[in-house]
Amino acid sequence: MRDEIDYSEKVIEVKEVKKSFGDMDVLKGVDLHLYKGENLVVLGKSGSGKSVLIKLVVRLLKADEGTIDVLGKRIDKLSVREMDELRLKIGFSFQNSALYDSMTVRENLAFPLVRNKRLTRKETEMKIEEALEDVGLLRAINQMPSELSGGMRKRIGIARTLILNPEIMLYDEPTAGLDPITCIEINELINEVQEKYHTSSIIITHDLTCAKQTGDRVVVLIDGQFKTEGTFEEVSRTQDPNLKPFFDYNFIE
Ligand SMILES: Nc1ncnc2c1ncn2[C@@H]1O[C@H](COP(=O)(O)OP(=O)(O)OP(=O)(O)O)[C@@H](O)[C@H]1O
Ligand SMILES: [Mg+2]
Repeated sequence: MRDEIDYSEKVIEVKEVKKSFGDMDVLKGVDLHLYKGENLVVLGKSGSGKSVLIKLVVRLLKADEGTIDVLGKRIDKLSVREMDELRLKIGFSFQNSALYDSMTVRENLAFPLVRNKRLTRKETEMKIEEALEDVGLLRAINQMPSELSGGMRKRIGIARTLILNPEIMLYDEPTAGLDPITCIEINELINEVQEKYHTSSIIITHDLTCAKQTGDRVVVLIDGQFKTEGTFEEVSRTQDPNLKPFFDYNFIE
C-alpha cells in the first residue's frame, strides 16, 4: 500500500449510477470512489461496462441516474466550458491509444499543448521531451505511429496524456494486446507515473498481472454492479462462485 494515499479525500465519487442503451441495462446502480493518490483497478469481463463507466466520469456519456463528482465538482451541473476545464485535469489513456496516424510522435504530443496551453515553442518542445523521457521513448520523437510497436504506441498515448499534468489518470486496458514482458513494463510505467506526479488513477483491465502490480485496491464489475472490493490478495482469495472465474484462468506471477 502506497504511503501517499490520502483517505480523507475522494477525487472521484460515483453514486448509484445507472446507464442503459435501449433495453440493455449496462450499469445498474454503481457506487465507486477513488482516493487521492490511489491506483484503483476495475476488473470485469468484456462487455461488462468498464469503458462506459470511465466515459461517464469524463462525460463522454451521460448517466441516466445517479451522481458523479470529480475533483469536488458534480459533473452533471457543469457547463460545457467548465467541463472542458475539468477534463484538462483528467488524463484519459484510451483502449486503442488513439494516436493521430498522420502526425509524428512530436506532433501528436504537441497537439494537446497547442490546444490548451499558451506556451512558447521552446517550452512546448521541453514538455514534449520530458513526457517522452518519462515513458522512455525520446528516441521515437520523429517517428510516425505506424512505425511503432503496440507497446510503444501505448507509451506514446500515456505520454500525450501526461503532458497536461493531469491530477487523475484513467487507463482503459493499458496492457491489452501486449506480450507479457511489455505488459510488465507498462505496469511499471503506470506506477512510476503515479510516484512522480502523485496522480490518482483508475486502471481498467482484465489482466490479472496488471491488477496485481498496479492496484492498491481492486473492484470487480459483474452484472452491472460492483461485487467486491479489497487488495488484490484479498479479492483473489475469494470463494464466491461469481468471482472465482476471474482469478482462476490467468497466469499470476
Ligand atoms: N455508445 C454506445 N451505444 C450503445 N451501446 C453501447 C455504447 N457504448 C457501449 N455500449 C454497450 O455497453 C456494453 C458495455 O460496453 P463497454 O465498452 O463498457 O464494455 P467493456 O467492459 O469496456 O468491455 P471490453 O473489456 O471488451 O472493453 C456493451 O454491450 C456495449 O455494446
Ligand atoms: Mg472497454
